[in-house]
Amino acid sequence: MTLPSILVTGGAGFIGSHTAVALAEAGYRPVILDDFSNSSQRALDGLQQILGYTVPCYTKDCNDHAILLDIFQRENIRGVIHFAAFKAVGESMQEPLRYYRNNLGSLITLLEVMLEMNVPDLIFSSSCTVYGEPAVLPVTEASPVQPATSVYGNTKQVGEEILRDVVAAGKPLRIISLRYFNPVGAHPTGYIGELPLGVPNNLVPFITQSAAGLRGPITIFGNDYPTPDGTCVRDYIHVMDLAEAHVAALQNLQKNSGNNHYDVFNVGTGQGASVLEVVQTFEEVTGHKLNYHVGPRRAGDVVSVFADATKSREQLGWTAKRSLREALADAWRWELVVNRP
Ligand code: WQD
Repeated sequence: MTLPSILVTGGAGFIGSHTAVALAEAGYRPVILDDFSNSSQRALDGLQQILGYTVPCYTKDCNDHAILLDIFQRENIRGVIHFAAFKAVGESMQEPLRYYRNNLGSLITLLEVMLEMNVPDLIFSSSCTVYGEPAVLPVTEASPVQPATSVYGNTKQVGEEILRDVVAAGKPLRIISLRYFNPVGAHPTGYIGELPLGVPNNLVPFITQSAAGLRGPITIFGNDYPTPDGTCVRDYIHVMDLAEAHVAALQNLQKNSGNNHYDVFNVGTGQGASVLEVVQTFEEVTGHKLNYHVGPRRAGDVVSVFADATKSREQLGWTAKRSLREALADAWRWELVVNRP
């Protein structure tokens, strides 16, 4: 029996590669498109070890109409999960045109090809960053979208608006935007995980690299915030829970969405954790004493954001199953594998 092929753009990346596993486990055939500008061939090797077969991968640019058309035809693509985008917040402020061209240009090209090929189903990678500094917590999908504080964040907001408008125009598309909170962890086998290029911006990969002796002490960016322990609060979600949310969203589109549909879902655990709590949990779970100190606040950080994931539970039948402890244990196992000399 031929399994339905799903195109995973950016599928060699952190969330994309884990979603390829979840798709395969749910009876789909993932097909990866990735230009490897921010990912590694190592992810494909890891997928081979986990799945026992080679996931087809096209090392191409998602902005190229002809290339996308050829892949849709050659692979009989039945749906798309779109991760491919530049995502460095700081870099986006230095190079706005490159970010708008790549992140929004690729989305528009993809939508044009989907319409041309009569492929209606799309899951779009969005972010809780659209909520900015929420006035009320936890945030629901009805919480106000705040003016973006970075070009990267704006590409997510404008991306959602493009999707909403193209569906409102009556086009035969069924689309869900998933607003991720903070993805952390790795596949429990340790064969795939987060592979930040250069010095990690994000907390958990910096922690694991510091614990592995690859980095110096962790700097906690501020402990004078109005939170229980003074450090910022986030909703850290295991990357495999996040991956499974993409499958649940795709199945929701295929089952009961007519032929013209747009909706938005939060994908988070519903629990907030502070930076200090993450540090202390990592030490408990791994037995590793971390070396850290408190430094100045980081520009652009929101004080506290975490999800109300009720809508995803009620309408997608999805909830996060894995704990922060599990995510940190899996992240550490990956660190020990990926940096094995
Ligand atoms: C988490 C907390 C830092 C590093 C980012 C993107 C967001 C999304 C998820 C894509 C903050 C603190 C961090 C360090 C620290 N990505 N921290 N020392 O900023 O919540 O979200 O990743 O969609 O768009 O902005 O994640 O891991 O960078 O920071 O104290 O060395 O950890 O100040 O409070 P963030 P993060």
